[in-house]
Amino acid sequence: MIGTDIKIAQKHLNQGAVIGFPTETVYGLAGNALDEQTVMRIFEVKNRPTYDPLILHTHSMTALTDYVEYLPTWALTLAKHFMPGALTLLLPKSNKIPNLVTSGLERVAVRIPQHPMALDLLRRLDFPLAAPSANPFGYISPTTAQHVAQQLGKAIPYILDGGVCGIGIESTIVGMEANGRAVIYRKGGISIERIEAVIGKVEVREHSSSNPQAPGQLLSHYAPRKPFYLISKENWATNPLFLEKKRGFIAFQNLYPSINPTDKTILLSPKGDFNEAAQHLFAAMRTLDESDVEVIIAELLPEQDLGRAVNDRLRRAGFSFLPTIDL
Ligand code: TXA
Ligand code: MG
Repeated sequence: MIGTDIKIAQKHLNQGAVIGFPTETVYGLAGNALDEQTVMRIFEVKNRPTYDPLILHTHSMTALTDYVEYLPTWALTLAKHFMPGALTLLLPKSNKIPNLVTSGLERVAVRIPQHPMALDLLRRLDFPLAAPSANPFGYISPTTAQHVAQQLGKAIPYILDGGVCGIGIESTIVGMEANGRAVIYRKGGISIERIEAVIGKVEVREHSSSNPQAPGQLLSHYAPRKPFYLISKENWATNPLFLEKKRGFIAFQNLYPSINPTDKTILLSPKGDFNEAAQHLFAAMRTLDESDVEVIIAELLPEQDLGRAVNDRLRRAGFSFLPTIDL
């Protein structure tokens, strides 16, 4: 059931249930992080392997510091600037957190969402929420309550509806390495430019492997079911590979020529705004995946600001079919 009643959400969570809840990045599939049975249920509902750990959500820095052993100076600086917000810190965990949440790893991912309903809900609870994105494992992340309902509605008692997610792409994950330094593991809602403006140059570790030491980097993630291709140049629509097919296009700002009347096209941001493009990305992928098109063809954005996080998701969605085609 979809609703806007925070008290109902609170009641379900207090009873150990798993629910859908809004954040400013994407919708989460939330449950009491301190209750192992509930945490196991999150993995089950999402069909997610238990080796892929969950993010812990709290409402304040005071609550957050209860669950980490140590905050290096750069993490405090980032927290001051971007928490609440689309930032997740990966830090040495305290022993209050069940091992299942972190898949037995030494670090825990912590985040304070900025969505007012999420914060209100978290403040009413005496436990933090463990929450992955509320999509079946490997599929596109949800940015509306309806997206959650479409795929997980039958498995959970309640979805708290907080409207369309303002950021639309997952949080940026910055982690502490054994040497104490910061590494960006997942590009997300806070751009690398904004992070480096406050703590200086940071290493970005990408696409390194398919294990949870490289968060958010499992290949073939965020993927539609239809064949998904990335194209980078103006004559993109004329590739003979696609001419016979019913095509769906996702473009940043402009549509290129040679679009057929049967093609479906979605512009992520006609005014060329990276934030708006990020906000619309997952919904665009879903719309085309659910439509009658046979292939989805997407254009990469310029590599700057949230364009980088959008490209990361596009590349991951397209990976299982073909690398980028340069025409
Ligand atoms: O914006 C977000 O971060 C959303 C909203 C709901 O908060 N959550 C989200 O969660 O994107 P999820 O589970 O879909 O992605 C979290 C990523 C996963 O790739 C996971 O492997 C990684 O973070 N992760 C979580 N805890 C970790 C840990 N202890 N060590 C390494 N990676 C971790
Ligand atoms: Mg996810």
